Amino acid sequence: MLKTRIAVLVSGGGTNLQALIDAQKSGIISSGEIVLVVSNVTGAYALTRAENAGIETAVISKKAMGLDQAGFEERLLETLQNHSIDLIVLAGFMSILSERFVRQYPEQIINVHPSLIPSFCGKGFYGLRVHEAALSYGVKVTGATVHYVNEVPDGGRIIAQRAVYIEDGDTPETLQKRVMEQAEWVILPEAAEMVSRKLLEEKGEERA
Ligand code: GAR
Repeated sequence: MLKTRIAVLVSGGGTNLQALIDAQKSGIISSGEIVLVVSNVTGAYALTRAENAGIETAVISKKAMGLDQAGFEERLLETLQNHSIDLIVLAGFMSILSERFVRQYPEQIINVHPSLIPSFCGKGFYGLRVHEAALSYGVKVTGATVHYVNEVPDGGRIIAQRAVYIEDGDTPETLQKRVMEQAEWVILPEAAEMVSRKLLEEKGEERA
């Protein structure tokens, strides 16, 4: 069966990547196949997760390769094109892609963000910082969002959201863990399947 070819972009531990791999194994993701994992950080544990699952990996590091943003994106684009990628999933990818880059993949890049957008998002809000901000503001409900990526950081159309309640005594770390378990690892695979299916259907219509 023809499948949407997925590349997952990562920078760190890769628990969201693991959720995607597991969802592929269990059949939650059936319209797409993860064919490539790209890290912008050398030695990221996400790369080991990909290797353990038999998925091809690539590292494109600005730091290690002495690249500027344009050079980085050129290498990234080349790698994605060489693998005929249809859908890019940002799963803990801690770098903002330029307008020039994202325009090449309209509604073909999705991102998971650990808050209910439009709260605690945009430039500077990533990883634990998002949960620190939610706790210091004093919100009672937070969660996660999967959205399309456009030229505005965390500003693209929302695909899925799930709420998570703050509990007494929460620290940024405990909250991060609960948001991942209850929200991110659930909605990211579901959204990846939904968009994979949509892209497959669009391809079918083009051929018809
Ligand atoms: C996740 O919580 C993800 O939502 C967040 O970083 C963490 C990565 O964990 N992403 C962002 O903050 C992007 N703005 P992981 O590497 O274990 O998936």
